[in-house]
Amino acid sequence: MFVCSCFGVTEQQVKDHAADGACTPRQIASACKAGTDCGSCVRRIQALLGRGACPRRELADQGKPVLAELDEAGGLPEAA
Ligand code: FES
Repeated sequence: MFVCSCFGVTEQQVKDHAADGACTPRQIASACKAGTDCGSCVRRIQALLGRGACPRRELADQGKPVLAELDEAGGLPEAA
């Protein structure tokens, strides 16, 4: 299903970018341009990111230092 019809970006593509570390609509835009034309998809992208699509967001929501955690572990921490 398309999230961004301006650039033909699918929900799965947004989730894949989120899994690769894009945690904000701006980072998604950097990865695939979604949200950079008419902007009507930005809220939908935000909704996708808010549904646990981004592993780092879970750390941030817990008040943990996301980047420091990644540096120490050398990668994404295991899901609880
Ligand atoms: S639908 Fe995504 S920028 Fe227009």
